[in-house]
Amino acid sequence: MVTVAGVAELDDGLVAELHRIIVDLVRDGAPLGWLDPPSVAEIATLLGTVVADAGNGDAGLVVARTGDDLAGLGYWRRYTRPTNRPHADLERVAVAGAAQGKGVGRALTTALVDDARAAGIEVLTLDARGDNATALGLYRSLGFTEYGRLPDFVAVGERRYDKVFYMIDLRSARGPLEGQQ
Ligand SMILES: CC(C)(COP(=O)(O)OP(=O)(O)OC[C@H]1O[C@@H](n2cnc3c(N)ncnc32)[C@H](O)[C@@H]1OP(=O)(O)O)[C@@H](O)C(=O)NCCC(=O)NCCS
Repeated sequence: MVTVAGVAELDDGLVAELHRIIVDLVRDGAPLGWLDPPSVAEIATLLGTVVADAGNGDAGLVVARTGDDLAGLGYWRRYTRPTNRPHADLERVAVAGAAQGKGVGRALTTALVDDARAAGIEVLTLDARGDNATALGLYRSLGFTEYGRLPDFVAVGERRYDKVFYMIDLRSARGPLEGQQ
């Protein structure tokens, strides 16, 4: 069974487990933005910032478990530019290789969208590599739509992939009367 939970506090053990998931995925070539696996210090700093920002309603870190095993993570962050503050970016969703294809990514992404909506985020964006059919199909099935694409933008050695931009407008999911009074 898949369970998901927001993270309000990080400890070294959780950071080490999340780091392991990311390292294994990056080593296998997963399109997470790293060419080489990040250090545990980099992940501790990154996720520490996300959790601190979550306390202010500016971010959210969600982890998934299958039974007792940590199976994946994802996080969103509010845009920092003052004129973009109502909006946020779903920056990463990552499911451990052995746990993929069992609904973990869907549960994680659904929880992240719900968390962003609960924080009052108006537009949630994300980007993905153009060849990541599984991720793109998952996002589309949850209501994301493509709003742009940079051809041959993502560089992995000599290879180039499109960078695809998706968005979901969370205001439209709040009902027609809200915000009009
Ligand atoms: C993309 C990713 C998050 C999806 O997570 P997952 O747990 O494997 O996905 P789920 O089991 O929840 O499946 C979600 C949908 O993806 C599709 N899918 C899953 N596995 C698939 C596969 N092997 N081939 C094709 N489609 C697949 C299905 O349409 C599924 O929808 P369904 O619920 O209607 O069956 C995961 O594969 C992953 O972490 N990949 C590496 C990192 C990455 O690419 N992250 C996204 C960066 S934008």
